[in-house]
Amino acid sequence: MEQEVLAILSQVIHPAKDADILNLGMVEDVRVEEGKIKFRLVSSSPDPLMGSIKKQCEALLKETFPDYKVSIIELVREKKTKRPLELGQEQLANVGKIIAIASGKGGVGKSTVSTNLAIALAKAGYKVGLTDADVYGPSIPKMTGTEGMIPEAEQTENGGELILPIEKFGVKWMSIGYFATPEQALIWRGPMACNALKQMVLQVKWGELDYLLIDLPPGTGDIHISMVHDIPLSGAVIVSTPQAVALADVLKGVNMFRNKDINVPILGLVENMAWFTPAELPENKYYIFGKEGGVKMASQLGIDLLAQIPIYMSIRENGDLGTPDTIAEWANLAEEVVKRS
Ligand SMILES: Nc1ncnc2c1ncn2[C@@H]1O[C@H](COP(=O)(O)OP(=O)(O)OP(=O)(O)O)[C@@H](O)[C@H]1O
Ligand SMILES: [Mg+2]
Repeated sequence: MEQEVLAILSQVIHPAKDADILNLGMVEDVRVEEGKIKFRLVSSSPDPLMGSIKKQCEALLKETFPDYKVSIIELVREKKTKRPLELGQEQLANVGKIIAIASGKGGVGKSTVSTNLAIALAKAGYKVGLTDADVYGPSIPKMTGTEGMIPEAEQTENGGELILPIEKFGVKWMSIGYFATPEQALIWRGPMACNALKQMVLQVKWGELDYLLIDLPPGTGDIHISMVHDIPLSGAVIVSTPQAVALADVLKGVNMFRNKDINVPILGLVENMAWFTPAELPENKYYIFGKEGGVKMASQLGIDLLAQIPIYMSIRENGDLGTPDTIAEWANLAEEVVKRS
């Protein structure tokens, strides 16, 4: 008899959707028992026409089966929309140390240091990932020759999405630059930029990592505070050029991590562009930005000096070409970072 009931219900047309209620998937669990015809009438959103559809069903069924009672349960079952992004720390479960690379000032070589440190750590045998947290000027895609690549996404069981990092040079890379052009990113203000950045860390399928490096954007603004607050950092590396004028900015960066609510250990300072040695005069060192500025800075701030990286043409060239730089300083820096973290 259920089949007959279904045949009758197929005559009921949803007035707004121009299809019968069976085809619309609105009829569920039809049962005929103890003199009763029962079923559920389901809609995927609150529907003002449900009342009249129900009445139509009742009228038609009573006409054909006058001896039966008709009992219809009305149900609104809203379709599960994608769960709003809950950025938990599940993806960091198998990540060992998370290290931020920061500087007070822009253009001091943070991204260069981050990229080469990541590659050096990978060469030393560690599993490494790097996230480019610079929304407005992401440079990791270019520096790693992965520009234009589009990371794949993977659905999670609860309807969310994970981003798969790009792998090259033995490192897993992630950057907002894979998703948005700088023009698009420029219109992101405060919270949106912060969220995008957190996604670059928390929504990425990192898998097992010994080190996750985070190339922070220059400065010490809201984005930084929010970032260092929400991500369980194990340490920070500060990058600076040797000029005395950079000290005030470096101090700001250092204080951000030393803030009592944040309290992230500073592993030390990298003095970048420490001197220039021309290829034709390998014994000569020209202290373009001042001599031993980094050494003084580190001692004034009470932090260790991890490395002095000279100005080499190869560094800039490799950065532009998206190829790893091979100077010994990067391997030494990696060793110092491992020792202290
Ligand atoms: N030691 C170095 N020798 C030669 N060139 C360098 C060196 N360090 C960095 N550079 C070059 O300086 C430029 C700026 O470096 P980089 O992008 O790494 O700085 P940044 O601090 O990340 O800048 P931003 O604040 O914009 O993020 C790049 O062209 C890079 O190749
Ligand atoms: Mg940078």
